[in-house]
Amino acid sequence: MNSVSHGFSVGSLFGASPAMQEVFRLIERVGPTEASVLLTGESGSGKELAAQSIHECSPRRDGPFIAINCGAIPAGLIEAELFGYERGSFTGAVRAHAGVFERAQGGTLLLDEVTEMPLDMQTRLLRVLETRKFYRVGASTEFTSDVRVIAATNRCPLKAVQNGQLREDLLYRLAVFPVALPPLRERGDDVELLAEHFLSELNAQGDTHKRLSALARMMLKQHSWPGNVRELKNCIERAYILGDSVLELAPLIQSGGARGDGDRGRLDIRVGSRIYDMERSLIEATLDYFKGNKRRAADALGCSLKTLYNKLNGYSQSQECANT
Ligand SMILES: Nc1ncnc2c1ncn2[C@@H]1O[C@H](COP(=O)(O)OP(=O)(O)OP(=O)(O)O)[C@@H](O)[C@H]1O
Ligand SMILES: [Mg+2]
Repeated sequence: MNSVSHGFSVGSLFGASPAMQEVFRLIERVGPTEASVLLTGESGSGKELAAQSIHECSPRRDGPFIAINCGAIPAGLIEAELFGYERGSFTGAVRAHAGVFERAQGGTLLLDEVTEMPLDMQTRLLRVLETRKFYRVGASTEFTSDVRVIAATNRCPLKAVQNGQLREDLLYRLAVFPVALPPLRERGDDVELLAEHFLSELNAQGDTHKRLSALARMMLKQHSWPGNVRELKNCIERAYILGDSVLELAPLIQSGGARGDGDRGRLDIRVGSRIYDMERSLIEATLDYFKGNKRRAADALGCSLKTLYNKLNGYSQSQECANT
């Protein structure tokens, strides 16, 4: 089997959680085949990267990998984008143009946001998938497609069928092999693994040795990452740019930098968090909120200043242990 798996990664897709290990297993099984794959998952969960990994696991890996976002193309242009057009076939077609089916010849074509494709185009697409034949717009010569098709959506495909957005026959044709990317909040310690991975890439690029603070690592666990891996990656990049040697995430996550809700002064605590971690992040976030003023933080927390000092001493000792 043509595998590019290294345990915690397949291609550029990283993850050690059982949920991602299962995704890797599926990718490695389906990669070398010609089966169509339907990737589902929330925005930012890694569908495009998964499509690339499937391509890299396939005998087509030396061919092109082309991604097209069906939601971003005006309805009237999508046929020309998919199948190309001949010169003069419509106003503005001053020269012939190869569509993505031609450009992906010998390789893999990712149809992203496939549910956003107009229904009449879905019918055309289904025909091409079944017959492997297509014409450029305005052409009489038939092309035979040698393209492996992967589709992706962040909607529930069955609901899209019920809403009349996705043709049922196309769904069954595309979803020969469905792969669901789990949301980041269901990947446990992958959040930290990915954060370290993105940070080490940035450190390598910038020839730096920046690292995450203990509070930052805790915040990684407690944030729910509604924007998934994309949000995490952006958050780490911003922290890297803003920080000197020890990076904080609190200002980014709490100020809504990552969520856009301007919700400073809130902690997002996951069910299953340890009480110790929860208390520590509450204390550190409260201190942060009061700009390091321990008396005001102690008042807000409803404990004595002495208790606050004791807790903080405890944290700095456990931090020293972690660093040795
Ligand atoms: N498991 C992963 N390991 C490393 N990087 C990842 C992983 N998942 C996603 N990424 C990175 O996160 C970002 C978002 O991933 P991607 O574009 O594949 O998501 P998507 O599901 O296609 O999102 P959308 O639905 O918004 O199109 C990219 O920069 C990608 O490289
Ligand atoms: Mg995408």
